[in-house]
Amino acid sequence: MTQRSIFLTSALPYANGAIHLGHLVEYIQTDIWARFQRMSGHELVYICADDTHGTPVMLRAEKEGISPEALIDRVWAEHFRDFTGFGVKFDHYYTTHSEENRELAEGIYKALRAQGLIEIRQIDQMYDPVKSMFLPDRFIKGDCPRCGAADQYGDSCEACGATYSPTDLKNPISAVSGAKPETRQSEHHFFKLSDPRCVQFLRQWALQDNRLQPEAANKLREWLGSGDNPDESELGDWDISRDAPYFGFEIPDAPGKYFYVWLDAPIGYYAGLKNWCAKNGRDFNAFTAPNSTTEQVHFIGKDILYFHTLFWPAMLQFGGFRPPSRVYAHGFLTVDGAKMSKSRGTFITAESYLKEGLNPEWLRYYFACKLNGSLEDLDLNFNDFVARVNSDLVGKFANIASRTAGFVRKLFNGQLLDDARPAGGLVAGSTMDDHQALEAVFIARAPAIAEAYEARDTARATREISQLMDAVNTYIDQFKPWELAKSGQASDLPRLHRVCSTSLRCFARLCVLLQPILPVVCQRARKEVFGLEPAQDDQAWLWNEIDWPAVGRVEVFGHLFSRVDRSQIDSLIHANIEG
Ligand code: 2FM
Ligand code: ZN
Repeated sequence: MTQRSIFLTSALPYANGAIHLGHLVEYIQTDIWARFQRMSGHELVYICADDTHGTPVMLRAEKEGISPEALIDRVWAEHFRDFTGFGVKFDHYYTTHSEENRELAEGIYKALRAQGLIEIRQIDQMYDPVKSMFLPDRFIKGDCPRCGAADQYGDSCEACGATYSPTDLKNPISAVSGAKPETRQSEHHFFKLSDPRCVQFLRQWALQDNRLQPEAANKLREWLGSGDNPDESELGDWDISRDAPYFGFEIPDAPGKYFYVWLDAPIGYYAGLKNWCAKNGRDFNAFTAPNSTTEQVHFIGKDILYFHTLFWPAMLQFGGFRPPSRVYAHGFLTVDGAKMSKSRGTFITAESYLKEGLNPEWLRYYFACKLNGSLEDLDLNFNDFVARVNSDLVGKFANIASRTAGFVRKLFNGQLLDDARPAGGLVAGSTMDDHQALEAVFIARAPAIAEAYEARDTARATREISQLMDAVNTYIDQFKPWELAKSGQASDLPRLHRVCSTSLRCFARLCVLLQPILPVVCQRARKEVFGLEPAQDDQAWLWNEIDWPAVGRVEVFGHLFSRVDRSQIDSLIHANIEG
């Protein structure tokens, strides 16, 4: 195996709100992929951070009567607590409000400017004369110019779906002060994405080496135009500046002008990496220089594809760095078939889920069962959630250990038989008894499961794993250890020992296969069921243990998974009802 070096990110959550189950889809998806890579022996650095800048953070801090810095510090701690609670294991969780980020943003801006890719233009903007500030589209409300619906945002109508510019709204008001906005001119800085150098670069970057999922690549083709005439594309230039007052970084040589939050947000990936490198004695350039051999992989939601597949690669390319290797988008979460709703209690925060005492690994498993690596939306159906957790995790997985370990403890002093390993390994096609044949199925299926993890198709991985759980349970049903134990015939004891040892070794293999999804329970199983230390540092199991897990005995252990009860879900929904 060649060891890969991977720099991995999830999108940076805004520092103005709580983490909810919709966010967790992405962090759980990325974390599963990260854990799979690490246990397969690759070097991986998983970086994330809070996305701290912009008008909403500034206004919220003002409303709470605290500084933006105090707000982002508090929210950082809340976010980090929630991610940790769900087992999301970043190598570093940083903030975009850092000196590294300021320097990197300034450096990229200056590099773009030196190449003639920054242009300053006068544009019309909505201005709040009471608050003395320019208003982002989302802070202007009014009647939809198309259908007349009242109280619509400045960029799109939730009633009829029209998109427009805030200057088109009828009866506009500032959502900040209630004042009637005025149109004023302001100088803005633009990144000239329409420059033929950018368009040409993006065309070749986006459409080669399977960097993007097919659906995403199609979108890019649409955005980038046909390519028949390189001077023509659909790409507009990108407005990267905002006027004071703004919480962010001031643009060099442009007093009163700030980088738009979306300029420094992705650069925050690099700032987090840079800070991690400094703390760990690693060379930041080795990851980020144009000739780097590290894979740079971003997991994002499909709504921010534009930023990650156009602006970000172009910023890196022309800012002196290497562009991303791959960008993977996922769909949105619905709950019980509908958009998450605060009034229905389905806008569920990560904090409330943990506070209500639900097991985070139930949700990790459920999301894993639904995620298939595409941009499709996924539904959290609570009845299905209850059914799957109880059937797969309790009824199939944990049950294998409960059905067999007691006999090994009571009758064989906790020792597992390991003389079943054929000298040449468990090779399909060789002569095997029923016990060896079961173990061989695991070895035969593991590569397909690895492939599914690699492709982020955890729906396929969990289907395969669930079939393996079924195979072990069917095997136990076939050999009926409980009958062998009470038959009183001496010859049944070795057979009982073999059946239980084989089942438990397969249970250990299930822990290997499930570890990316269920890190806590798989680690507990290693320690509590088998009395083993982690295989390596903080990796309980390594992928190559599938071949022959080195489990020698079983210990007395408690419940690995408890059942989920529908009433727990009802309390969770109840706790999230607002308004
Ligand atoms: O959409 C969002 O929530 C943004 N805060 C994501 C930023 S991702 C990256 F570019 F920083
Ligand atoms: Zn409308």
